[in-house]
Amino acid sequence: MKSLISFLVGVTFALGLGISGMTQTHVVKGFLDIFGSWNLNLIGVMVGAIIIHAIAFHLLMKRNSPLLDSKFYLPTKKEIDKRLVFGAALFGLGWGWAGICPGPGIVSLASGEVHFIVFVVSMITGMLIYKFFEKKLLLKTLPVILVTLSVQASANNFREEAPKVAASLKKNLLENLQREVSENGAVKAVDFCHLNVGTLAKETSKNFKDQYEFGRVSHKTRNSNNVPKEWMNSYIDQFKIKKQSMKDTAALFHTLEDGKEVYLEPLWTAPLCLQCHGDAISKKVSDEITKRYPNDQARGFKVGDFRGFLWVKEKNK
Ligand code: HEC
Repeated sequence: MKSLISFLVGVTFALGLGISGMTQTHVVKGFLDIFGSWNLNLIGVMVGAIIIHAIAFHLLMKRNSPLLDSKFYLPTKKEIDKRLVFGAALFGLGWGWAGICPGPGIVSLASGEVHFIVFVVSMITGMLIYKFFEKKLLLKTLPVILVTLSVQASANNFREEAPKVAASLKKNLLENLQREVSENGAVKAVDFCHLNVGTLAKETSKNFKDQYEFGRVSHKTRNSNNVPKEWMNSYIDQFKIKKQSMKDTAALFHTLEDGKEVYLEPLWTAPLCLQCHGDAISKKVSDEITKRYPNDQARGFKVGDFRGFLWVKEKNK
């Protein structure tokens, strides 16, 4: 029964194509020849077909399934991508070149004319070639896709981890600094900063399995080891004119030329920092700082000023 109906539907469709002239190459070419002697007949055929199809489709979709099958097979792809555009363009070229549509081409086989036979055989060959290459392409591109995905996964991982690493180091530094200042005073704390920042950074690094390296940079440095790297300058320039209370002061990621990412977290001047980075540093503290850092520039900051970045990077293996 199903086959009989398919047969009848096929015959009706073929008759329609034949009667409307879609099987005649000069009609198809005339329709595509917009800038020549444009033959509009096929538009009538298409519009007629679309209207009748739209009504029938609308009515049919009210059912849960087609009359002779358990479910509808509808195209699921909705987006217009490169493949669709390229495939459609290629199809259009073939269509205009041969003047034959795939469906009507098959109908025209009945005429026994050689060029229709050549067309249908070529069309099937084209489909097979595509299938062959698609498989090959998939085999070739699969490793690339997998690598990209895993790189992305690890990058995403870094994006999640880096802020945690930074927060941990910051907390560690701040707690120690606060304790040191309140217990032993700012002068001693200068010594502490001088000696212990590196140690604290190492400790934090251990907590994260030595996967990351970090440092601090600033536009006005105390320790010249903390001068920003060339690529950091544009970020420093953006931030050095900002205040903590302004918009767009969130931490950011920078991708290096080797593909590695660096996390940059802005550090803002808090009241505690003024004792050693403000513009009214006590003489004792100031002397202690000058003794250790003769070229110190890290003074004159006010509360809320951008002080520099804490950066976190995955270690080079
Ligand atoms: C007790 C004094 C003291 C206090 C308080 C202090 N710092 Fe520092 N800071 C230093 C010293 C000393 C260095 C240089 C450390 C080194 O040799 O690496 C430094 C370096 C830095 C650096 C690295 C860039 C550079 O200039 O070399 C940043 C960023 C920084 N401090 C931010 C802060 C912030 C933010 C606060 C407040 C939360 C703060 N500091 C509080 C003494 C202090």
